[in-house]
Amino acid sequence: MQTSLIMQVLNVAELAAIAAAAFNGRGDKRAADAAATEAMRQAFNDIDFAGRIVIGEGERDEAPMLFIGEELGLGWEVYESPKIDIAVDPLEGTNLCAYNQPNALTTIAIAPRGALLFAPDTYMDKIAAGPALLDAGTLGVDHAPADNVRAVAEALDKPVSEVNVCILARERHADLIAAVREAGARVRLIDDGDVFGAIATAVPGTGIDLYLGSGGSPEGVLAATGLKAIGGFFEGRFNFGVDEKADEKRARAEQMVADAFAATGTRIDLDGVLPRDLLVAGDDAAFIACGVTDGEMLDGVYLDPSGSVTTHSLIMNAADQTVRFIRTTHRSENGVVRF
Ligand code: FBP
Repeated sequence: MQTSLIMQVLNVAELAAIAAAAFNGRGDKRAADAAATEAMRQAFNDIDFAGRIVIGEGERDEAPMLFIGEELGLGWEVYESPKIDIAVDPLEGTNLCAYNQPNALTTIAIAPRGALLFAPDTYMDKIAAGPALLDAGTLGVDHAPADNVRAVAEALDKPVSEVNVCILARERHADLIAAVREAGARVRLIDDGDVFGAIATAVPGTGIDLYLGSGGSPEGVLAATGLKAIGGFFEGRFNFGVDEKADEKRARAEQMVADAFAATGTRIDLDGVLPRDLLVAGDDAAFIACGVTDGEMLDGVYLDPSGSVTTHSLIMNAADQTVRFIRTTHRSENGVVRF
């Protein structure tokens, strides 16, 4: 993908973050999500490409969505326009934004048509770690937590007692949290935002070495794209749960995957391990995030009294294997720019 296209998509993430940040701490997660989503839609529609949403926000919480299959951009009638698939979580951590907690982000993954897995809106068991674990062959979503923790300690050359494992604070993770602590490692609980949790394993300075636990599948594909770009490790497995809705969720996932891969005949085992490179095929993919609230990885949106606005973003680009941290100041409506 051309750098100019990636920069235009960065602008989409920034505008969505600015829109969401107007709701930081205002206690209204739906309004924040709707603002980010609408800003994204408008900004994507200004880009000269044929963009297609393959992962939008889920039906799980009936959030305002960019719909799966939605066509975005000015290029649909133009033969030469790049055909790009898009995964978005316009506001990752809606509660984090609503309650002004760290690490609310706008997140986008882009890749050439067909490269991103259409992930159903169900849970995914996930494991993520930084580049030191990529080729070690010692981590696995199916491995016991103690084994995964030991593998990280060995690869990072530190004692297990200094391994920091990020886990979503959920009732369903009680056994996992206990097992990690039993193994001797530390647990960093987060209230929301497991795209941050997974990507942070590969970002120095966040203090997170390993991400474990279940979260949304769409968030899994987004995190896998970032980790692919920076050479990190990611594995997932769909988790349909065991409640009365499990069969319905599985049937919907089957249909979705069958529709998505009808043309190529690719088969996905809905119960199998989903390695990073199945979630994100090929080497031409980019992950873009912009901070909405301040966090360890990215600062949030700063509003200057002059009216200018500063955003903090990152681009992880698998094509050229770069990570860029970008601070952008957007001029105020009255023309003032202060940075
Ligand atoms: P939202 O941004 O849609 O609120 O999702 C936040 C999040 O914490 C994700 O990061 C995570 O994957 C998912 O929710 C976990 O879902 P649940 O809250 O049902 O455990």
